Amino acid sequence: MFWLLLFASYLIGSIPTALIVGKLFFGVDIRELGSKNPGATNTLRVLGKKSAIFVLLIDLGKGALAASLPLFLHLDTEPLYFGLAAVVGHCFPIFAGFRGGKAIATTAGALLIADLSLLIIAYLIFFLVIILTKYVFLGSISVGFSMFIYDFYSANVNFELIFLLFLFFLIYLHRSNIRNFILGIEPKINDKNLKND
Ligand code: G3P
Repeated sequence: MFWLLLFASYLIGSIPTALIVGKLFFGVDIRELGSKNPGATNTLRVLGKKSAIFVLLIDLGKGALAASLPLFLHLDTEPLYFGLAAVVGHCFPIFAGFRGGKAIATTAGALLIADLSLLIIAYLIFFLVIILTKYVFLGSISVGFSMFIYDFYSANVNFELIFLLFLFFLIYLHRSNIRNFILGIEPKINDKNLKND
């Protein structure tokens, strides 16, 4: 049952929201535009605010739905495992050639169900970093740092290894942003120029 639910969570995460919105309403493949990332940030950049909010909510919902599966089925299993399986699906979607997003919205949805305090802390820091630096990718990577540090100092949470791996996973997913930042071409959140990396 555990593995079946984990796979179901992966499939839920695999729904490529930004790709569907781009193709259905704009006739474009978002993976060819802007940062080429099929996520809410790039949707905002190339398809506008309304689409970005929609993508954000659905991507968040995927993580929340997957993390809720054990609760719906009255299983005594940690919701975070399923939320994270949805995050993997979001990043490597079976329905979109394994070319997916960068984890942040779906992770928020997973934490909404699995650990509300961690969600609040990690995403307050996420917004703070973006407000201070204007770089979304730095806020995104800070989510991984916050999760690891929170777990490290929390008596109730014991996911140090998972969160450390997750931090490396986030850094890997944001490797093109890091490269662009070093080259001085990473766009800020208020930047209207599209990048093509
Ligand atoms: O959450 C995604 C963000 O960290 C980076 O998105 O489109 O700028 O690569 P993007």
